[in-house]
Amino acid sequence: MKVLITGAAGFIGSQLAHELWKRHEELILVDDFSYGSKDNLIFDDHDFNDEIVIGDVRDKNLIDKLMCSGNIDYVYHIAGIAPLPDCQSNPQNAISVNVEGTVNILEHSRKYGVKKIVFASTNAMYENETDFPTKENSFTKLPTLIYPNTKYVAERFCESYCKTYGMNITCLRFANVYGPHIDCLRKQPPLVGYMIKELFYNRTPIFHSNGEQRRDYIYVKDLINLAIAVRNSTGFDCVNVSSNQNYSVNELYKIACKIMNKNMTPKYHSSNTFWVKYPQLYDGAYSIKSEILEHEVTKYSLCDNSYAKEKYNWVPQVTIEEGLKKSIDYEISLLEKLESRNDLHE
Ligand SMILES: NC(=O)c1ccc[n+]([C@@H]2O[C@H](COP(=O)([O-])OP(=O)(O)OC[C@H]3O[C@@H](n4cnc5c(N)ncnc54)[C@H](O)[C@@H]3O)[C@@H](O)[C@H]2O)c1
Repeated sequence: MKVLITGAAGFIGSQLAHELWKRHEELILVDDFSYGSKDNLIFDDHDFNDEIVIGDVRDKNLIDKLMCSGNIDYVYHIAGIAPLPDCQSNPQNAISVNVEGTVNILEHSRKYGVKKIVFASTNAMYENETDFPTKENSFTKLPTLIYPNTKYVAERFCESYCKTYGMNITCLRFANVYGPHIDCLRKQPPLVGYMIKELFYNRTPIFHSNGEQRRDYIYVKDLINLAIAVRNSTGFDCVNVSSNQNYSVNELYKIACKIMNKNMTPKYHSSNTFWVKYPQLYDGAYSIKSEILEHEVTKYSLCDNSYAKEKYNWVPQVTIEEGLKKSIDYEISLLEKLESRNDLHE
């Protein structure tokens, strides 16, 4: 099998590359390293740094060059601007990468006959949903924020290419993904990465609202199993990738404290300060509404995964305790490695 993975230096893309490499698949990896890292590409049994192509998914010439051999079986289009406040504070870039970048992949896949595209979509598009657990086909309340809108629109172009040209595309709507390689260093890391880093440095973590907000989490290896299982389905499809089980911030923190043997009481700040590291969102004639921040912080998520179970015989295997333990082990070794080479820029 010949497989192109975009976003291969990121959290999910690097783990997917490793899994497919272990299955002896021929890989073409691409990433512009805007968020990815060389460390993500280093595994105990292989280092992908010499193989990855550094480039932008919006670059027509590059994608043409990578695909023109014409015999790519599968494209995993994982590259994207994932942090919500980054999308919100630079919407032009978010739309350019998440939408135009996707269309560039679609167009070249059409030209060169890619058998199947798997697109990294998100359950964030359910942000205004009120019926739980959320099902793929019954959500009606379209998203508000920039990030989920970019993914929603990119999905519509996937659908357009399937309907117009008979292509095969599955949009996987990931819940909150966690596991080894989750980023703990970016400006606003995802909760699991943030929590581990603060505990590692014995700092009091700051959570927003009261920590009772609940989200649906999925372990990265479970996600990858489904990403492989969907490869041979035809036509256009959207599939939730979720555990159908949610945890509050406080519950996750308690489990992490137990694993790391720490006992710090977190501080709780107002939702209004959630994206305070992005002052441009609060500046200008119109600033971000406090009710939008409150909604984003306290948002409840629970995604129905029965479609993935029925169609692909897929069942998530990893418990939250096991998954957090593996995430913590990886992040600790990474932070220790970065410290030892004096490479932490906090
Ligand atoms: N992590 C989650 O919880 C989650 C949830 C839902 C959806 N997703 C989606 O899954 C995908 C992967 O997420 P992740 O958590 O691994 O994020 P990540 O930031 O770790 O990985 C994304 C990768 O894409 C690369 N990239 C960004 N712009 C690019 C461009 N123009 N050209 C080439 N490469 C580019 C980045 O450098 C990065 O390595 C993203 O599209 C994200 O929106 C993630």
